[in-house]
Amino acid sequence: MPVLESLIKEMNKKTEMRASIEAKTELPKFSPEVENTLYRCVQEALLNAARHAFAHNLTVELAFAAGLVTCKIKDDGVGFDTHACPGGSSKHLGLLGMKERVFLVKGTLEINSVPGKGTEIIITIPINGA
Ligand SMILES: Nc1ncnc2c1ncn2[C@@H]1O[C@H](COP(=O)(O)OP(=O)(O)OP(=O)(O)O)[C@@H](O)[C@H]1O
Ligand SMILES: [Mg+2]
Repeated sequence: MPVLESLIKEMNKKTEMRASIEAKTELPKFSPEVENTLYRCVQEALLNAARHAFAHNLTVELAFAAGLVTCKIKDDGVGFDTHACPGGSSKHLGLLGMKERVFLVKGTLEINSVPGKGTEIIITIPINGA
């Protein structure tokens, strides 16, 4: 996805963190809604990894199988306690916004994070007609 590639390139210019993106399979052409959702989610995940994680590396992996696109965003930063629920506070709207966007295109978002072990965000979105 060229828009995601330029986003990653921009981020690499701005921060010390090294971000990369890889398509694990051939990808279909996404609808503007799906493309926009992926763009906004990757953008917020990059910002969070740069601002909160002190991550050295971040990878974005895209794959398409059985009508589902999966986007995995993984950093090697400090991680956080997902049960502490910072997303519930009015000051932290990034993760909540990602969840809402993904929900609107009927997808799911999973966060796997352990303090000290980095963070992985897995977004899965069904692609109609694919
Ligand atoms: N990749 C990450 N690594 C470590 N901590 C994270 C990561 N992503 C999120 N967090 C933690 O989860 C909190 C909530 O993230 P969220 O994006 O919802 O809010 P925010 O980044 O603090 O504020 P906002 O996105 O609204 O400007 C963050 O404050 C941070 O403590
Ligand atoms: Mg944020």
